[in-house]
Amino acid sequence: MKRMLSGIKPTGQLTLGNYIGALRNFVNYQDDYEMIVFIANLHCITEYQEPAELRKNLTDAVALYLACGLDPDKATIFLQTDVHAHAELGYIMACNTYLGELNRMTQFKDKMAKGEKNMTAGLFTYPCLMAADILLYDADYVPVGEDQKQHVELTRDLAQRFNNRYGETFNVPEPLIAKVGARIMSLSDPSKKMSKSEETNKGCIYLLDDLKVARKKIMPAVTDSVGKVQLDKQNQPGLYNLIEIASSLSGRTMEDIVSEFADQGYGKLKAYTADVVCDTLASIQERYTQIIESRQIESVLKEGAEKASAIADRKIEEVKKVIGLEIKY
Ligand code: TYM
Repeated sequence: MKRMLSGIKPTGQLTLGNYIGALRNFVNYQDDYEMIVFIANLHCITEYQEPAELRKNLTDAVALYLACGLDPDKATIFLQTDVHAHAELGYIMACNTYLGELNRMTQFKDKMAKGEKNMTAGLFTYPCLMAADILLYDADYVPVGEDQKQHVELTRDLAQRFNNRYGETFNVPEPLIAKVGARIMSLSDPSKKMSKSEETNKGCIYLLDDLKVARKKIMPAVTDSVGKVQLDKQNQPGLYNLIEIASSLSGRTMEDIVSEFADQGYGKLKAYTADVVCDTLASIQERYTQIIESRQIESVLKEGAEKASAIADRKIEEVKKVIGLEIKY
C-alpha cells in the first residue's frame, strides 16, 4: 500500500478552504492508502500565538479531523511535537537547504512584499521543517492544496540532494493536488485565497461558523457584472469560486451546476451554494460536539504518536548514521 502524509497548521480555526483543499481528500484516501495525518503545531509558532488560544485551536483541529471523517482505525493521527524526530530532522534539513531556495518560496516572498513586521527566522526556515515532516515517513504522496505545491517541490529537491550526498535515504514524494477545489478563494475578494489570516472575516468560512453566519458570508459574495452563470474563471472569478465550492461539496460536476442555474440569477446560485455549505457544516459540527464531549482526543493522539514514532525514530537514526553524526564505541 502506498503511503500518504499531510498536515494542517491550525494557527486559527480550520476553514472551508482547508476542508475542500485538504481534509476531505484525506478522508477519501484513507481507504486506499496508508494515511498519516498530523497537526503541525510547531509550524503554528512561526508567528506568535496566544498560548490558551493555540491550545484550543489544536484541540479543535483534532476534533475536526475526526468530525470530518478521519478514522483512527485507518489513519495515523498525531500531534507533531509528540514525535521528536520532526524537530531534529527539521534542523538537519535546514543544514541541507540553501538560502536562495528559501528566498524563492512565494509564501514567504508575499509576506515580505506586504511589509509584514516581526517575521521570524522560524517562518523563513519553515519549508525545511515541512520537508522533514514528509521525508521522515518516506511518504509516496502528499495531498495538499495548490498553495503548498512549491513546498512539496522543494521537499523533492532536498530529498534528491540528500540521497546524492549520503546515499539512498529518502523516498522522493509527489504532491497530490485535486482537480477541483485546490484553491478556494476569498468570498469578499476572489483574487485572494480563502485564508484564516484574512484581515476581515467576511470572505472566510470557518468549519465551526454558526450556520446563519456562514450563509451571511455567502449571499453577499463578490461576483461580477456579466450577469450570466457560466464557467469563466478569468472574467468571473467570484462566480467560478462559488460553483467550485458547490461542486466540491455536492459531488456534482461544475458543468452540471452551471446547466441548472444558467437561466437563473446569481442569487439562486448563491442560495444553492449556501445550502450545500450549511449542510456540510451542520453534519461536521454535530459530530464535532460529540467528539469534544466524548474525550476521545487524548487516546487518539497517544495511539497515533506511538505509531508515528515507530516509523520516524527508525528514520532519524538512519539519517544520523549516514551523515556521520553518531559515534559507535
Ligand atoms: P495550511 O495549514 O496553511 O493548510 C492546510 C491544507 O489546506 C490547504 N488549503 C487550501 N486548499 C484550498 N483552498 C484554500 N483556500 C486553502 N487554504 C488552505 C493547504 O494547501 C493545505 O493542504 N505547511 C502546511 C502544513 C504542513 C504540511 C506538512 C502539509 C506542515 N507540514 C507536511 C503537508 C505535508 C500549511 O501551512 O498548511
